[in-house]
Amino acid sequence: MQTKLSSGLFLALLLFLFPDPVQAQSNLNDAPFYDPVALYLTWQNDPTTTMTIDWHIIDEDRTILEYRLPGGSWSDAIAATAIDFPHSARTIHRVELTRLEPGTVYEFRFGESSKVYNFRTMPADLSKPVRAAIGGDTMHRKRWMEKTARQAMKFDIDFVMIMGDLAYADGLPPEQQRQRDTQNPRVENQWYSFFDAYKNTLITDDYRVVPMIVTIGNHEVRGGYYTRDDRRPDDPPYSDTNEWKQTVAPYFFSLFASPGLPGYGVLDFGDYMSLILLDTDHVNPVENQNEWLRNVLSERAHIPHIFPGYHVPAYPSVRDYNDEVQARVRNNWVPLFERYNVDVVFEAHDHAYKRTHPIRDGRISHNGVVYIGDGAWGTETRIIGSRQSHDSWYIAEAASERHFILMTLHGTHRHFKAISSTGEVIDEFPGLNRTN
Ligand SMILES: [Fe+2]
Repeated sequence: MQTKLSSGLFLALLLFLFPDPVQAQSNLNDAPFYDPVALYLTWQNDPTTTMTIDWHIIDEDRTILEYRLPGGSWSDAIAATAIDFPHSARTIHRVELTRLEPGTVYEFRFGESSKVYNFRTMPADLSKPVRAAIGGDTMHRKRWMEKTARQAMKFDIDFVMIMGDLAYADGLPPEQQRQRDTQNPRVENQWYSFFDAYKNTLITDDYRVVPMIVTIGNHEVRGGYYTRDDRRPDDPPYSDTNEWKQTVAPYFFSLFASPGLPGYGVLDFGDYMSLILLDTDHVNPVENQNEWLRNVLSERAHIPHIFPGYHVPAYPSVRDYNDEVQARVRNNWVPLFERYNVDVVFEAHDHAYKRTHPIRDGRISHNGVVYIGDGAWGTETRIIGSRQSHDSWYIAEAASERHFILMTLHGTHRHFKAISSTGEVIDEFPGLNRTN
C-alpha cells in the first residue's frame, strides 16, 4: 500500500511538473519505463486495417502487447509469437493487429511501466495525400542511414519502402560480418546498428513509429544470388525450398514478417495501391516469379497505383546494361509491366539516383514505364555509368547522391521528388497515371 501511494504521488507530481504527456513520458523514460532494445513496424496484410509490430528483447520478460485508441482503455494482453534472432542473444517478438480502423492512430505498449508508442493505419482512400519515402541500400554506415531518414521524416511520411541491401550482413554470423565489413569494421552486429538507426530516426517526437516495407537484396543472402557457386562450403546447394531459403538468408526471413517466404509477395492498400515485392535472383530465380507476377498484375487492373519494387535494376545507372540479372529482369518482368500498364517501378543496387525515360518495347515511348532508383539511401555512391560498356540511352536523370524518393499520392494523382541526404531536391517528376 505504501509503495502504491508513493508511486501515485510521484506520478501526480510529475504530471504537475510536466503537464504535456509526451514530455512527461520522455522524462520518465530515463529510469522506470520499459523500452525494447529494437522496435520495427511493417505490414503482412492490408495496411488500412492491420499492423505488424516486432520488438526485440534480450532476457527481460516483455512478451505481451496491449493497444488502445488514445485516451481509451487498454486491450487485453496479446501474447507475442517468439522468433529466434539468428546468432544473437536477442529474441524477436511479433504481434499482428487486425480489424483496425483505417486512417486511425493507435497507441501500444509492452505491459505496464512501458513506454507508449503509437502508429497510424493507412487511410481507406486517397481523398487526402499519402506520402512514402522510397529507397534502397540503406546502411554502409549507420550515420548515413540516419541522415537520409531524418530528411525523409520532415515530410510526415506514412511509411518507408526499401528495395533490399538493408544491413549489409550478408546472411553471416556477426564475427564473419565484421571480417567482411571493410566499410565499418568496428560494428558489433550490422543488424543491431540497422535497428538502432531505425529507432533513432523513424519515430516522431510524439512517438509515432513509421512502418517499413522491404524487399530482399544480395546483401541479405550468403553468396548474394541463388546461382552463385562460391557460397560458403557448408551451405547446401540451391533448392526451391523454404528450408534452403532460410538457411542462406537467415536474418531476412526472421527479422522481417513481410514479404516472408518464399521471398516475394504483394501488399494491397485497400483498393487504391498495390506494392509488388519481387526477388531478383537472390533466393528465387527471376523466371520462377513470372506466372505469379502475371496473375498479380492481371487481378489488379482496377487498382490506380501499382508499383513493383525489387533490388537489381532492369535499367542500371552504374552497372552494365548487359549484366546477367539485369538482362533477366528485362526479359522476364519488363514485358509484363508493359502489358499491364504499370507506370512506375522502383529499383536499387547501383548506389546512385536515377530516373529513366518512359520505356516500352526497348525504346523511349510516351506510353512507357518509368524506372526510378537506384539504391543509395545510406551507401557510398558510385559514378554514373562507370561500369557501363554501352550508351545509357534510357537515363533521363541521374546523380551520385545519397537520397530518398518522396512519393505523394492524392486521388489518382501522383508526384515524385528525389531528395538528397542534405535536403536538396535532385529531381522531380509527376509519374503520370495513364488510367487518368
Ligand atoms: Fe545490391
